[in-house]
Amino acid sequence: MSARNLAVAAAKKATNGKPGPKQDPGPKHNIEAMREAFYERIAKKDMAPLWKVMKSVVTKEPVTRCAPVVWHFDDVKSLVLEAGGLISAEEAERRVLILENPALHGESRATNTLFAGIQMIMPGEIAPAHRHVSSAIRFVLDGEGAYTAVEGEKAFMSPGDFVITANWAPHDHGNPSDTPMLWLDVLDVPMVNFYETSFAKHSDDPTQKTSRQDGDSLSFYGSGVLPDGTTAMNRTPIINYTYARTRPIVERMMKAGEIDKRHGARVRYANPATGGPVLPTMGANLAMLPKGFRGEPYRSTDSTIFVCAEGEGTTTVDGKVLDWGPQDVFVVPSWKRYSHNAAKESVLFSISDRPAQEALGVWREGR
Ligand SMILES: [Fe+2]
Repeated sequence: MSARNLAVAAAKKATNGKPGPKQDPGPKHNIEAMREAFYERIAKKDMAPLWKVMKSVVTKEPVTRCAPVVWHFDDVKSLVLEAGGLISAEEAERRVLILENPALHGESRATNTLFAGIQMIMPGEIAPAHRHVSSAIRFVLDGEGAYTAVEGEKAFMSPGDFVITANWAPHDHGNPSDTPMLWLDVLDVPMVNFYETSFAKHSDDPTQKTSRQDGDSLSFYGSGVLPDGTTAMNRTPIINYTYARTRPIVERMMKAGEIDKRHGARVRYANPATGGPVLPTMGANLAMLPKGFRGEPYRSTDSTIFVCAEGEGTTTVDGKVLDWGPQDVFVVPSWKRYSHNAAKESVLFSISDRPAQEALGVWREGR
């Protein structure tokens, strides 16, 4: 069929085969029909015209699929405890309730690039050893005395601790205490799957043999000295950045008046061998906000997951008010303007894909 006939056929199709209202079949009419016919032909060859989609492919500003959202810990904890009666940690391998962004249901993610979930280990349980390409962090929410064994170090965890499980690091969890332990897991799974680079492996042994004492890596690398021969790695050698060590630092900063007008008295968790981020894909901060803090507006291209470690306040995101209290988790999407308000002295943990964006040269911030 010639292009002209195709154009006529396409025009007929547009009117369901019925003769349309009488129109002047001028040159414009013909060219539109010819274009549509052309698009149909090239679609069969797996091609498409850029000029039809240019504005949505190359947007003037970031367009996020994410929604601002808060998960309140009271709801989360009761549902996670309910899951504890339905399946064991060993049976589930990891007993985690995924925090799914309401705009991304079914996609197992809290932001476009980050997975978030609440994991629970009941007293006496273990979560067996495995490893995967996706890097993970844990931010401890509730309980005391469960451990994550990673790379030969058994790190016993307390609320506010920030634990790193780097790319391909073997890890298992256990809870020898007498109370359930809950923490926030954040992984770069959607990013790894975007690149189609996921590998995972289960260990034959459910628990790792540990050769180091709890806290060795923090003592070796996080004390202003480095073991001789330490070479720069693209991820931190520290396993557990304990709250007991980090909280007093942001408190001292606040008392010294070193308070950012947008973020409060804030530190960035750093790789001590390079000063860089803790992981190449994810970076984290801890901030103390004085009582009555009214933050100036801020936005950046990294969608960010926040956790309230202590205190009470609100974060206004693009006009939507998210109220938060202890252990609540909330999401600020990419390039949405937000500001924090603290009703009480508060501590906020945050994590995002900023290091990945910076490495690619695409990260930006603004007011
Ligand atoms: Fe894992």
